Amino acid sequence: SVLEMEVEQINKGNYEHYMQKEIHEQPESLKTTMRGRLIRGGSCKAKTVLLGGLKDHFKTIRRSRRIVFIGCGTSYNAALAARPILEELSGVPVTMEIASDLLDRQGPIYREDTAVFVSQSGETADTLQALEYALENGALCVGITNTVGSAIARHTHCGVHINAGAEIGVASTKAYTSQIVVMAMLALAIGGDTISSQTRREAIIDGLFDLPNKVREVLNLDQEMKDLAKLLIAEQSLLMFGRGYNYATALEGALKVKEVALMHSEGILAGEMKHGPLALVDENLPIIVIATRDSCFSKQQSVIQQLHARKGRVIVMCSKGEAVSVCPGGLGRVIEVPHVEDCLQPVINVVPLQLLAYHLTVLRGYNVDQPRNLAKSVTTQ
Ligand code: G6P
Repeated sequence: SVLEMEVEQINKGNYEHYMQKEIHEQPESLKTTMRGRLIRGGSCKAKTVLLGGLKDHFKTIRRSRRIVFIGCGTSYNAALAARPILEELSGVPVTMEIASDLLDRQGPIYREDTAVFVSQSGETADTLQALEYALENGALCVGITNTVGSAIARHTHCGVHINAGAEIGVASTKAYTSQIVVMAMLALAIGGDTISSQTRREAIIDGLFDLPNKVREVLNLDQEMKDLAKLLIAEQSLLMFGRGYNYATALEGALKVKEVALMHSEGILAGEMKHGPLALVDENLPIIVIATRDSCFSKQQSVIQQLHARKGRVIVMCSKGEAVSVCPGGLGRVIEVPHVEDCLQPVINVVPLQLLAYHLTVLRGYNVDQPRNLAKSVTTQ
């Protein structure tokens, strides 16, 4: 109806699509996610994290034999992005499960496990069923959702709301970055304040405070990503290489491109390049390599060299000011992004890829907010 159309226009504000609005909203949604949860200075001098919904359970979580992340789609990718920092700060082994796969295998879940269920909607059937399975097996079940009162929020023992605000676009964007931030805060909270990790913890907390500004900065790449989308508009396929903290970024960037732009795209663990993907490399296939500055940087530099040696069509995402060290001789295209603490870099790096997927979709003439065959929340198995 006309009224519905008008309401929709009001909701979208100055944006043409919900996905676009939600991408550009991320500086604000991240602030809301962190509001009241990060404590710096003041009466208690230490920088700390407060997650009220979990405070009675941290002891159990710290003592658990492992932490298992369970989710689907973008929510799984967000957990994958947070895995390294959780491993580092908690000292507890962290494993990953795609909900449907855990159910297919009836994989092992024990009483001594902490199972963390990540879901934007809190209603995804696969994730919900995996939750029932984990409850039957006696694990402590933690929910990370964006929907107060959702099935997953109700059935878990405890949890954290990501408070990203309603997400309308079928392709998840702002929920992804808020999920990563919540899981980084979870890692800080589980880690507790051991002296050995204090400097690291404080650097991450400072990084979190500054993250909305850095996201605002990376959003300035909008036009550049539109130009890149014009260049890639007619491609059959687009590969994304990442590793370490940004393996998840490659998977998530590729998921965005395939789900909305209806273009084949694959996220590839760069460490696996030699074991298959290298055979695909030629002058035509575009490959985005995520090579921002972190402990994997020199390994990514050699990946880039090997791609160039095979005449690969490489587009490198690097930290601001480092174009020269990733593109010797000015070979290929670069996307320069602001540098942040390594474990928060996935929040920054995904943004240009969200923008790229968005522009590719609009330029190719597809429905951005409701891609064919997909639903926002898949409540049947
Ligand atoms: C569907 C949506 C995806 C989403 C996934 C998991 O496939 O299209 O965007 O990532 O479900 O949804 P959840 O609500 O559990 O995060």
